[in-house]
Formats: sequence, C-alpha cells, structure tokens
Amino acid sequence: MLCLLIFVAKWALGVSLAGNSPLKEPTQTKDGANQFSNLESVEPTISITVVGASGDLAKKKIFPALFALFYEDCLPKHFTIYGYARSKMTDEELREMISGTLTCRIDKRENCGDKMDQFLQRCFYNSGLYNSEENFSELDRKLKEKEVGRLANRLFYLSIPPNIFVDAVKYASSRASSASGWTRVIVEKPFGRDSDSSGELTRSFKQYLTEEQIFRIDHYLGKELVENLSVLRFSNLVFEPLWSRNYIRNVQLIFSEDFGTEGRGGYFDNYGIIRDIMQNHLLQILALFAMETPVTLDAEDIRNEKVKVLRSMRQLTLDNVIVGQYKGHTRGSKSYPAYTDDPTVPNNSLTPTFAALAIFIDNARWDGVPFLMKAGKALHTKGAEIRVQFRHVPGNLYKQNFGADLDKATNELVIRVQPDEGIYLKINNKVPGLGMRLDRSDLNLLYKARYTKEIPDAYETLLLDAIEGEHRLFIRSDELVAAWSLFTPLLKELEEKKIAPELYPYGSRGPVGAHYLAAKHNIRWGDLSDDS
Ligand code: BG6
Repeated sequence: MLCLLIFVAKWALGVSLAGNSPLKEPTQTKDGANQFSNLESVEPTISITVVGASGDLAKKKIFPALFALFYEDCLPKHFTIYGYARSKMTDEELREMISGTLTCRIDKRENCGDKMDQFLQRCFYNSGLYNSEENFSELDRKLKEKEVGRLANRLFYLSIPPNIFVDAVKYASSRASSASGWTRVIVEKPFGRDSDSSGELTRSFKQYLTEEQIFRIDHYLGKELVENLSVLRFSNLVFEPLWSRNYIRNVQLIFSEDFGTEGRGGYFDNYGIIRDIMQNHLLQILALFAMETPVTLDAEDIRNEKVKVLRSMRQLTLDNVIVGQYKGHTRGSKSYPAYTDDPTVPNNSLTPTFAALAIFIDNARWDGVPFLMKAGKALHTKGAEIRVQFRHVPGNLYKQNFGADLDKATNELVIRVQPDEGIYLKINNKVPGLGMRLDRSDLNLLYKARYTKEIPDAYETLLLDAIEGEHRLFIRSDELVAAWSLFTPLLKELEEKKIAPELYPYGSRGPVGAHYLAAKHNIRWGDLSDDS
C-alpha cells in the first residue's frame, strides 16, 4: 500500500518513471535483443545480486534494507535475491547469516517471523571470484533458472573494495546481464581518490555500462532530512526568498561521530576524513542546499543544477582548511585509543580524522557567504546537521535587550539530519509577563513527536529508487568530476606538504584550529554555542 502511494505520488509530481516500466527498457539497454515477442503479456521479475555479500555493509545495510522493502510490499511481486562473494556458503548458510540482521518495522511486528521466512526463501547464494568470467556465467545460469518465462530485470549491488570494481562490472555486464529486461549496477564509494583515479574508473565503467545503467550511491542523499531540503526550500514561501547572501550570514555543515575508525583503519588511512565524508556526503548536501531552482523535479534537471553550483565553488586553499587527528585519552578508568594505535594504521600516519574548511560559491546568490564544513571521528558526540545563520536585523529596535553580542540575537535554522531528525528555527521571543525581557526560543519540528511512522533507512529509499530506475538521488559522472575538481588540488597540497594534523583527544570537541578558522570569518560554530 505504501509503495502504491509512492508510485501515485511520483506520477502526480511528474517525476520521470521512464526507467520504471521494464517493458520500456529493453530497447535502451545494451543487453542484447529482447527475447519476448509479446512483452505486454509477460510478467517481469527482478533479480538483485549483492556482490560482496559477506561484507559488513551487505550484512548491516543492504540485506536489511531489501527485507524492509519486502516487508512494506515495495519489492515487485516476483523477485530473487542472490548473494555473491568468494567465501564458500550454501543458500542456507547465507540465510542464517543475514537473518540475524533483519528487523521489522515496529508498527507491524505481528507477522514479522512469517515475512522473514518468506523473504529468506527468496535468497540464494553463489560463491565466485570477482574477476572470473566463469563464475559470473554460472551466476547467470542460476538467475535464468529463477527467471524462466518472465521478463528479467537485473540489479547488481557492488559492495566490494574499489580495486575490484572494474572486474566485477566487466563480468557482471558481459556474462550476467539480462537478455530480456534492464540491467543496472549500484556502486558504493569510493569513486576514486582524486580527479585522475576517478576519471579512470568512470572510463572503465563506461566500457561496459551506459550512464543510465550506473547508480553511484551516496547514502546521505537517501536520508529523510536531506531529501526534504528541497521541499523545505521550494515549497515554503517563507524560506526561498531568504535563501541568499541577502539574508544568510553563513551556513554550517557538520558531521561528527563519537567513535574512531575501529576496524576500518586499513581503508580509512588511504582516504581520510576529507575523502570519506566531505567530498561526498557533505558536498552533496551543500549542492542541494545551494543550487538554483531546477526546471522540474526530473533527475536530469536537478543534477544539472547541482553540477552548476559545484562548478561555481571557489578553489579550496590551505588557509581555509584545518586538519586534525585523534590521540589517545583516558577518562576515569576508561582509555580510548589514538588513531595510530590501530594496528592497520602506520604509526607516523598524517591522515586526518577531522577537518574543517570554508567554501565560497562565486555566484550571484552566494557571493561572500562562507559555507563551513566540519567533519570528525572520535568526537564528543554523534550527529549530522545543517545550520543556517541569518544576518542581524537592521536597526533592531530591541538591540538593548541583547547586550553587546548581537550575533546571539540572529535567527538560526537547524536541519538535524541525525539523530533525532528535526528542523527548528531559533527566534527571539518575549518572555511572558510584566516588563520586556527577551529570550531565545525554538519553533521546533521534532519528527518523532510529529510523525508516528519510523523513518526508513537511507538504503531503503535508494534501493527502491534504483529498482524504479529513478536517478534523482544518485551521482551523475559530471557531478563527480566537479566534486573531485574542487577537492583534488587541496588534497594534493596537504599530502605533498605533509601537513601535520592538529591532535585532539578522543571524545573531545575537536582541534582548537576549527574555532580559529570560524573566527577568521566572524563565525561561531552553532553546534558549540550555549543554546545549541
Ligand atoms: C560512510 C563512511 O560513508 O558513512 C563512514 O565511510 C561513516 O566512515 C559513515 O561512518 C556514516 O554514515 P551514517 O549513515 O552512519 O552517518
């Protein structure tokens, strides 16, 4: 029912569903001729192959998201799920492995067990190497057995390390593409480490896939509050007119985690926080926040605007960046490790686990407005938020009520992406009673107080979109080029000059340098203010 509503809503919005109907796609994919003469009478089926099925992401996010979609009746009537990985496993063992991570929505728990069994019965496993023609052909044979008599659509989810992306794409496309329906591939970041390696990856992919078939996932785009950014801005008269340098003093995009790289040091040390979080998650949010109004809600119109704003961003310079790395810390009887205590991280690593930087957008709307980004691991708290600090009220009649610090009296709009999703606007208000005393209050939309339904995980939203052929929340190759062009020179400079990160204690608020960076632009971090 929920999914039916989604389909109807998207039609009403005019969102392009050209890729949704499997009956329309065989002509546009390069998977060979359509084997059915009368498509109208053939029911479609979808085969979803999770490549890298035994990995952490697959276990923690992808299989649970697929189950949640099944639970909500969002998967097509006919579907099969295949796990593909190198480990030897039977179908039963795969089911056993994933069953532990499946959860049901709280509001419908009653038939949860039955639903899980039904779902698991549709899950199968194929053990294979990621660079084996033969193993992908074998997968193809198994998929065909399940698809027989139906129009077959295939979705591959590559949840594997980047060094084997290209092989997997090559063999999935050449040996296991659908002959009758569409074939799509979802790829997880990292999409390269800089402009050159990312360009190389894109060129390799395009030998085997068209851009239409590629779904580059950035799971932050599937988060409820990030998706809501455009709704907030474009469908509320009170916000859009304020969305410019005329009223906005600065914007802050803040990401923090209260744990370190535990267990992921090997991957992380090669990337660092700028590549891991800023170049993708935070930059994507910024692009959505700052883009001009798209012509329509179609994927291409939105992505065109994102590319434009990304290309308007001024080159990042070292004087607008600070980097940090967490060091060990003991609190009471508990000791927290330093980043370099991780056995997979070199002792002399300069990889930043924290960064703060200021970005400027050189266009008419945003000229001179600092967009501050801050991201860090092993900080005192976990969260992600967007803070919009508005300008001072000109000739404020009440300024004597605020003391010397007028910044404290400006409005601030906070979009809290996680946890406790919410949107609130800080306003000045008269404290009720005799006399005239003002305080700071919030107009507060706390999601859990307003909406009873649990918020779906970002992976559910994105998987559903990929199944429907909806590209709006996926990264197009030219967006990626623009994103890397912004960050590559800075990353090179940081690495060539071996800039040493400022050390900060595990569990702290991060390096002091972040405060100086903000202060240089006359800004205070909103998340660290007294009334945050
Ligand atoms: C991933 C990063 O993309 O996002 C991780 O590689 C990070 O380092 C994660 O922990 C954060 O995602 P979320 O959804 O838990 O905020």
